[in-house]
Amino acid sequence: MNLVVVSNRVSRGKANEPMTGGLAAALLPVVEKSGAIWVGSSGRVRDGSQKEPFAEIEALGAGALAMLDLPAAHYGGYYEGFANSALWPALHSRSDLIRASQEDYLSYREVNAFMARALLRFQKPDSAFWIQDYHFLALGSELRDLGVTQPLGFFLHTPWPARAVIEGVPHHRELIEAMLAYDLIGFQTGDDCENFLDYLRSELGLEVADGCVTSRFGKTRVAVFPIGIDPGKFAQQAAKAVSHPDVSRLRRSLHGEKLAIGVDRLDYSKGLINRINAFDRMWTTQPQLARTVSLLQIATPSRGAIEAYGNLQNELAKLVSDVNGRHGEVDWTPIRYLNKGFSQTVLAGLYRTAQVGVVTPLHDGMNLVAKEYVAAQNPDDPGVLVLSKFAGAANELDTALLVNPNDIDGMARTIAIALSMPLVERCMRWEAMMEKLQASTIQGWFADFVDALQQSQSDPCGPEPLLAEPPAPWPLRSVNSGVRYH
Ligand code: F6P
Repeated sequence: MNLVVVSNRVSRGKANEPMTGGLAAALLPVVEKSGAIWVGSSGRVRDGSQKEPFAEIEALGAGALAMLDLPAAHYGGYYEGFANSALWPALHSRSDLIRASQEDYLSYREVNAFMARALLRFQKPDSAFWIQDYHFLALGSELRDLGVTQPLGFFLHTPWPARAVIEGVPHHRELIEAMLAYDLIGFQTGDDCENFLDYLRSELGLEVADGCVTSRFGKTRVAVFPIGIDPGKFAQQAAKAVSHPDVSRLRRSLHGEKLAIGVDRLDYSKGLINRINAFDRMWTTQPQLARTVSLLQIATPSRGAIEAYGNLQNELAKLVSDVNGRHGEVDWTPIRYLNKGFSQTVLAGLYRTAQVGVVTPLHDGMNLVAKEYVAAQNPDDPGVLVLSKFAGAANELDTALLVNPNDIDGMARTIAIALSMPLVERCMRWEAMMEKLQASTIQGWFADFVDALQQSQSDPCGPEPLLAEPPAPWPLRSVNSGVRYH
């Protein structure tokens, strides 16, 4: 099989370059090994006069990377417009932030159609196409319109919200009907999958049996494939990275004080305001913790041309400066706030340096930072993960300290508990999480999806739909559950 992987953002895999976005960083090592062709945006635009889409093609591991210049007239409406101002807020249950114009929708459809035409040059009789993420909901149906008959798969890296929320997106019906051109649709969690199926049943009146649905395109299988990381590789990287100059400088600057770390794209879905407020609350209610712990918050700027992101950046900068102004001392800064990206190598070392990882999104498809933080820990002295129960990762990492990111007091208390957790409890929680990471790696995710995609036309509904299992009971699940380890 000749696999063609498609995503808006791609990664060229230059060692030690800052990584942009979970999807591109996660896919890079597996795509590199698989021999697939990975097609995405070059980040540049071009006017529409050229006959053939312009693609810069370079070798990538055993395969190739093709970066396309997208049409200048439609790029803004597609990326900042419909994809990130209508779909993204809806997918993250922020109906209040949905902004959608008819022009933006048309640009989104134009770019999906443009990508479909561009993909024809990579098509072979035994090709299969695997499309990633919400930028290309309609790409499958555009490919079918061009006569492509090969297997088409789609994986959504974000959550899929409740029916009433997605119905707030203009043209939702047309788009979701178009999604049924895919033979296989994958989601991160059972809840996402159930929300999608509920829409198909209730809004489109379709029958769903064993995760399979029939539409005018034929059969589509809908299933759960939780994305993972390569925990072994990340652990090695982290152990090596402790001697990286940035990491050593950080360690020296702490003077024995503890460190909590947060690493996020600067996005309203990440719950950054609530997180900073929780630290503020913790230092206010437990003043003895001042000078004993600081927060390193890396917030990489993202989608800055969109008003909601610009507003958030300003609000966060103001909040951090206010908290630092109130709690800081001449020789102590409570929050170290950085608006830049770091390479994965440096991040691995920073995670290992921090006694607490705070990953508290309001909604998140998976959140690979949570998994990377766990994998980066020193097995003899692991840190504690404080994790939002609304991140997809919480389904697997259920021995993290799970928090409600809207409950500022609860988060403040939980962070303090994390800071004082005894070694034996830290080790037990960490080992349980590592087992989960090892059982569900990025390599396994890739292979499972590709296998299912290969079978999708011959045996669309078998063997077993991969609906999420309920998490296994474990006595250390959450401090909020009231069940504690003694
Ligand atoms: O699924 C989320 C995602 O597509 C991930 O790749 C990443 O976290 C982010 O969105 C990237 O966004 P952008 O490409 O707009 O920076």
